Amino acid sequence: MALRLIQGGRASDGLPGLLIEHAAEVATLAGGIRTGARMDDVAVLSAPGGDPSHEAAPAVACWEGRILATGPQNELMRALDGSGYPLARFTRVDAAGGTVTPGLIDPHTHLLFAGSREAELVLRQRGADYLEILQAGGGILSTVAATRAASEEQLADHGRRWLAEMLAHGTTTIEAKSGYGLDLPTELRLLDVAHRLGREGPVEVLPTWLGAHAVAPEFRARPDGTEAYVRYLIEEQLPGVVAQGRARFADVFCERGVFSPEQARRILQAAARLGLQSRLHADELAPSGGAELAAELGAMSADHLAAPSAAGIDALAAAAAGGKPVVAVLLPATTWFLMHDEVAPARKFIDRGIPVALATDFNPGTSPTPSLPLVMTVACLSLKLTPSEALAAVTINAAAALGLADDLGSIEGGRQADLAVWAVPSHRQIPYWPAADLLRAVVKRGKVVLERAPA
Ligand code: NIG
Ligand code: FE
Repeated sequence: MALRLIQGGRASDGLPGLLIEHAAEVATLAGGIRTGARMDDVAVLSAPGGDPSHEAAPAVACWEGRILATGPQNELMRALDGSGYPLARFTRVDAAGGTVTPGLIDPHTHLLFAGSREAELVLRQRGADYLEILQAGGGILSTVAATRAASEEQLADHGRRWLAEMLAHGTTTIEAKSGYGLDLPTELRLLDVAHRLGREGPVEVLPTWLGAHAVAPEFRARPDGTEAYVRYLIEEQLPGVVAQGRARFADVFCERGVFSPEQARRILQAAARLGLQSRLHADELAPSGGAELAAELGAMSADHLAAPSAAGIDALAAAAAGGKPVVAVLLPATTWFLMHDEVAPARKFIDRGIPVALATDFNPGTSPTPSLPLVMTVACLSLKLTPSEALAAVTINAAAALGLADDLGSIEGGRQADLAVWAVPSHRQIPYWPAADLLRAVVKRGKVVLERAPA
């Protein structure tokens, strides 16, 4: 089965309506951000007797890029009939007994970079440590050198290629970090390309400034290099980024041996004063005070969390209980690809009422996968999330991690019509067939942007 990428919708389009019919299941994720036991409830509508040709099988109706309603097809048709939404004005998509979910949302990617780092995989197999490779000038710094040398068009071509891969795995919205420039011109180039690719569509892209990803090479030889770079970030790079107006969020790699919580606090507070919301690479490799800082700052998300301290988990639980949840964005493909035994204590987070999301962390060093379904599989196997929890974590909770849970991440009337149709009869099978091509169709803002003929 060949994938067809349809630019700007189907040829037969131009119609304002879209009707997805003959689904075995629609996982709506209705009802807002999920925590605790509710993470396992994805608000499913099922075909009676599992029969997608039943007149009351679930369907989804959209109009002009928004969801009109979802429910049993016969009821939906009755409601549409005579209500100003003539059925002749709907493009029909045959789900053919598959599952409809919200379009997947990837709230942590490093989309834009140049080059690749497959040699590091072999070094790590032989026992090299991730931060040792960085301190020796490899790792992030080797990608920085390649990225600085890349033209805007090379970066854009790379971005288009990997956005198409993400779309082909059901992703309709991503966050994309800079952080492989570390100087102002390259950081601005990365943020501008990310913004431009989002405008091109169909995948929506939210840019994040990650100037504090590593200490830039030109500062490293100085005795006070890290501190000097932090001052440069706050006094020069950040104002330039804000003046450009592309970045929506600011992020810092807060980790023992990289940036301290005290440095991360200064950077993120300065960014917040200039209108950028905070997110944080927190406690990826060792307890580093990242979870505590994310809670203190009221960050949108604390990401990685493979090695949080007990106090850090307490702080995130207290933030959630106090109605100011920091979303724990877990990146299990990263610990898998780094061959680390220590993984994020996801069950503990869920038990403590901390909202959990999942992301690819797509990047050339620690997680070169564009696939959220693969991440869902790894989350089930290594973090012991249930398949339903994993789906909530890449839809409504991922939307919450980006501050978009009012409009994205669920199938409810009035929301943006971003949908994925899967060639399996239950959402529980999405992580169950790792690396299989399960996508039947993707809808972005009410338009079919990718479609594969039913088998
Ligand atoms: O999220 N840990 C910091 N940043 C990335 C890796 C970046 C790289 O190795 O190029 C991460 O894992
Ligand atoms: Fe990352």
